[in-house]
Amino acid sequence: MKQFFSFNDVKSNYKELLNKALDYKKNPFTDKHIGENKTVGLIFFNPSLRTRLSSIKAAYNLGANVWVLNAGSDSWTLEMADGTVMDGNSQEHIKEAIQVMSAYCDVLGVRTFPNLKNKDEDYNEVILNKVVENSSVPVVSLESATLHPLQSFADLITIAEYKKTERVKVVLTWAPHVRALPQSVPNSFADWFSQIDFVDFVITHPKGYELNEKFTNGSQIIYDQDEALKDADFVYAKNWSSFTDYGKILSNDSSWTVTKEKMNLTNNGKFMHCLPVRRNLIVSDDVLDSDSSIVIPEATNRIFSAQTIFSECLKSK
Ligand code: CP
Repeated sequence: MKQFFSFNDVKSNYKELLNKALDYKKNPFTDKHIGENKTVGLIFFNPSLRTRLSSIKAAYNLGANVWVLNAGSDSWTLEMADGTVMDGNSQEHIKEAIQVMSAYCDVLGVRTFPNLKNKDEDYNEVILNKVVENSSVPVVSLESATLHPLQSFADLITIAEYKKTERVKVVLTWAPHVRALPQSVPNSFADWFSQIDFVDFVITHPKGYELNEKFTNGSQIIYDQDEALKDADFVYAKNWSSFTDYGKILSNDSSWTVTKEKMNLTNNGKFMHCLPVRRNLIVSDDVLDSDSSIVIPEATNRIFSAQTIFSECLKSK
């Protein structure tokens, strides 16, 4: 595997990779020699708890070394624009920085959030593409401006583990938040779960929060959350800012918070969220602390999604 940015990179073999991830969960050290004398490099342009730690753990499980760089705070301030006179605060251009960092590893993970101000810049994945152009090793997205594929793969592992029937209904629901958040998690979730063959996928959100059609792939959208949640086997809550009115908060309607009453509409459904989650805003305490919540196993599966992808990248190096 030379890159992992989206479902497209695994579309042809996602079932095989899912089985591999489930095998890694049973036997985490079965491929502990794959990473021998190899290094996984992780660059973070933005904060992280789960992605950082699960990626480190995944690399260790494969016997690889790891380095982590917080770009900007741990390094020189990087210049992103081409052709600029660097007489401002930036001390090093991303071109040299990525060429150097990729010389120090065998797989390069990068986290780069959108700025939510310039839709074209974000949706053209300007920073991720600069990393790819200048890297001499496979690049893995640790969440980009538009997608979060390692999260979606972990979500797939989790749903596969918890599903009780051959086919399952999975509902992605918008929920309120006080800050404008990226669309990367819901875009990615929609892109994956609209194409997983055992899933009946539904999206629910207030009007104005339609996601980019490039990722929803014609999914059913139901604007009435109660209607959408009926008989759901899995409820995946997430806030996102508007794609059409780019980066704006259009609603803070607390009736969209996932509560016990909302979960009672489901088919004894499981509650999911990528974390971090704001309690009693996105989801009520009595849901998050109940047996229906599988957010911790979901976060745990981040190890095995990363381990599977790193292993594929290291094998092809
Ligand atoms: N879900 C997720 O990506 O968590 P972090 O932002 O903490 O890495």
